[in-house]
Amino acid sequence: MSDCYDSTFLIPTLNKQGWMIDKVVDEYTLEFIDYASKNINYSLEIAAAYGNISLEVLKKGGKIIVNDIEPKHLDVLYSKTPDELKANLKIIPGSCLDDLDIDLESISSVYCSRLFHFFSSEEILKTLKKMNSYLEKKGKLFIVSDSIFHGYNKHHFQNYVRKKSLKEKDPGILRPHEYIFHADPEMQEQMRSNMPNVFNLLDIDLMSSLLVEAGFLTEKAGYFTRRGHYPEESLWNGQEGLGIVAVKNY
Ligand SMILES: C[S@@+](CC[C@H](N)C(=O)[O-])C[C@H]1O[C@@H](n2cnc3c(N)ncnc32)[C@H](O)[C@@H]1O
Repeated sequence: MSDCYDSTFLIPTLNKQGWMIDKVVDEYTLEFIDYASKNINYSLEIAAAYGNISLEVLKKGGKIIVNDIEPKHLDVLYSKTPDELKANLKIIPGSCLDDLDIDLESISSVYCSRLFHFFSSEEILKTLKKMNSYLEKKGKLFIVSDSIFHGYNKHHFQNYVRKKSLKEKDPGILRPHEYIFHADPEMQEQMRSNMPNVFNLLDIDLMSSLLVEAGFLTEKAGYFTRRGHYPEESLWNGQEGLGIVAVKNY
C-alpha cells in the first residue's frame, strides 16, 4: 500500500498508533544509543514499535529489554536481530503502564520515544514512576516526544496558551477533528485512520514538573527541529520535537 509518508522516514504502526521513525536520529536518541551500548547492564526501551533503535544498541554491543503494546511489532524486531545478538535481547509485549515485570533497580537506562504525546499527564506520571522504580541508582531516562510546536498545533496555539494560563492539566491536547491534515482528502483519511484519538502535545514545563514528582532530576531538556524527519504539514518553527535526559534522583 502506498503511504502518505512515503517520502519521509516514517513507517506506519500495525495498531493505528502513528508511525515509527526510521533512519534519522535526533541528538537525544543518539545519546541513548551511546549510553546503552556502553553499559554492561540491561537498558529498556518502551513503545519501541519495530525496535530500530534497540537494534542499533544491540549492534553496538549493548543489552536491551524491548517493549511495545503490539506484539507483532516485536516479532519483526526479533526476526531482524542477528542470531549472535539474540542473547542480549529480551522482549516484553504489553502496556508499559501495566504489563512490565522488571526487577526493581535493575536497569541502567530507559528510552521512550514518541509515546507520551498519546498519553494524558496522569498516564505519563504513572509511567515515569514505574520507570524510576526499574532504574538503578543514578540510572538515566531518555525521552523524545512531539512538542507544542508541532505543525498541527499552529492553529490551536492560542488555545494552548489560554489553557496553560488557566493551569489546565493537559493544555496541549488535540482531538482528531482539530488536527491540521493533508490537503488531499484521501491522504487526510489515511493519516486520520493511523492516529489514536488523543494527541497531547507536550512542553518542557509540564514534563519537568512530572519528572520531579516521579523522582528525576532533569539534566538536559530542549526543543529540536523535525525538518528532514517529518512531512511539511507537521513542521512549524524548528522546535517540533521535545527531548529530555533525566537522572534518577531518589
Ligand atoms: C508513534 S509510535 C513510536 C514508535 C517509536 N518509539 C518511534 O519513536 O518511532 C508509538 C508506539 O507506542 C506503542 N504503544 C502505544 N501505547 C503503548 C503502551 N501503553 N505501552 C507500550 N507501547 C505502547 C504503539 O504500539 C507504537 O508502536
